[in-house]
Amino acid sequence: MKFLEVKGLSKKFDGQTALDKVSLSLEKGELLCLLGPSGCGKTTLLRIIAGLETADRGEVWLEGREATFLPPARRNFGIVFQSYALFPNMTVRQNVLFGLAQNKTLDRAERERKADEALEMVDLGPHRHKYPNQLSGGQQQRTALARAIAVSPAALLLDEPLSALDAKVRARLRGEICRLQRAMGLSTIMVTHDQEEAITMADRIVVMNNAVVEQIGSPRAIYEQPATPFVAGFIGAMNFYSQAGGLCAVRPEKLEIDRQPRDAESLSARIGWVEFRGASTRVYARLAQDGSEICVDLPTERADQLTIRENDRVYISVAARHVNRYPAAA
Ligand SMILES: Nc1ncnc2c1ncn2[C@@H]1O[C@H](COP(=O)(O)OP(=O)(O)O)[C@@H](O)[C@H]1O
Ligand SMILES: [Mg+2]
Repeated sequence: MKFLEVKGLSKKFDGQTALDKVSLSLEKGELLCLLGPSGCGKTTLLRIIAGLETADRGEVWLEGREATFLPPARRNFGIVFQSYALFPNMTVRQNVLFGLAQNKTLDRAERERKADEALEMVDLGPHRHKYPNQLSGGQQQRTALARAIAVSPAALLLDEPLSALDAKVRARLRGEICRLQRAMGLSTIMVTHDQEEAITMADRIVVMNNAVVEQIGSPRAIYEQPATPFVAGFIGAMNFYSQAGGLCAVRPEKLEIDRQPRDAESLSARIGWVEFRGASTRVYARLAQDGSEICVDLPTERADQLTIRENDRVYISVAARHVNRYPAAA
């Protein structure tokens, strides 16, 4: 069953469109990533889902019931924002207990048990008596996560929870959030502007741009069959060139380089620059047909075999199934 459904949400701020007829659904236990550039409406969408913001139009449905006007507390979501939003004058444990104090049905002992359990889950047990300023960024964000899961929420809403952290901590916490989310079977919506984060973590990705949804699909579908030129260009490296009045997009790793044309479609090109990247080598070449620059990722072994140098003339080929075609922009 769909845990959550959003139907035709639109929102304007001072006449400026922040969301335009956005629809999506979240399955039970699914991790959905909202991915898009800064300002495309991700936070606004998450806040409307949380009940912290009202839409001008459209509906929010929770477990088969309309929840468009349900107050935030009755939606029972655990929320983590980009900034940790911890109380500086409270310890880690007190911060988590504070979230639980809203629940009047639990007595003190139960609240403490739930807080300690949540802190164990995020490996903060030994740090529970520290204050936020005695914690690293990653530990602060794990405290925020513990506070969100301690209330046994129906779902987790995470707004760029990792973006304030350095790369190494981010990668580790990424794995931890996934593990926790799967172990608890928590339906989760996570906002990110980081495509790698979305691809590695999500069951499905919602790609947004300029207040609209461009595509919804599995990381693989988004990567291999981008629905629009925007999605094609936003996720991973992509080559664009025009052909037969349309626009073509091909991933660098799908292109092949040879000394001789492979087939009638092979394109003549001249090597510009060869960049060693470790396991792969990126070759920049210029197409003879229109001078457009193309980059090709080859396994380094293959690049060595070809012994290509700057200015060499080569032929570039691609299997038709790897070419994404779009109508020319109107
Ligand atoms: N409270 C607000 N008042 C006015 N404009 C807002 C408000 N919140 C968001 N916006 C505008 O709405 C658009 C979408 O913002 P936001 O949802 O925060 O994007 P994102 O999270 O994708 O970066 C932006 O143009 C932003 O300036
Ligand atoms: Mg945002």
